[in-house]
Amino acid sequence: MKTIKVMLNVNNEKVTLQVKPYETLLETLRERLSLTGAKESCSLGSCGACTVLVNGTPMRSCLILTPEVEGASITTIEGLKNGEKLHPLQQAFMEKGAVQCGFCTSGMILTAKALLDRNKKPEKRDIVKTMSSNICRCTGYKKIIEAVEETSKK
Ligand code: FES
Ligand code: FES
Repeated sequence: MKTIKVMLNVNNEKVTLQVKPYETLLETLRERLSLTGAKESCSLGSCGACTVLVNGTPMRSCLILTPEVEGASITTIEGLKNGEKLHPLQQAFMEKGAVQCGFCTSGMILTAKALLDRNKKPEKRDIVKTMSSNICRCTGYKKIIEAVEETSKK
């Protein structure tokens, strides 16, 4: 089968891959690069479990074909830690009990990161609106919102 050469910058590392023309970014990350933090749930762009940052913007990796993001910088949850130190959002999610099964968590944290990167001190209503793009079946959202709020105060 014909494959396409794609270069990406994933978590600050350059990678060059031969991918199928219809391979999704989620498949590339999980199956070729063993970055399994992004999860596959709906595969329809509805839930946000597969969210990663593409050039700093949260995007549904189940809907993106890898050749479409040739040359892009991709950030996954695995790229947030600084050495052994968790990102402040990861720390706050843990401390606030904003993680239960964890299936939504990487998408939630990356969505929150993009918000705080563009607005360090968002209003609560902005946090609620932004985080409503991602579905969580476990926590009821309260603790997720609290974790993002807590991080924005630091
Ligand atoms: S798996 Fe991509 S949005 Fe649900
Ligand atoms: S923690 Fe289970 S879906 Fe959010």
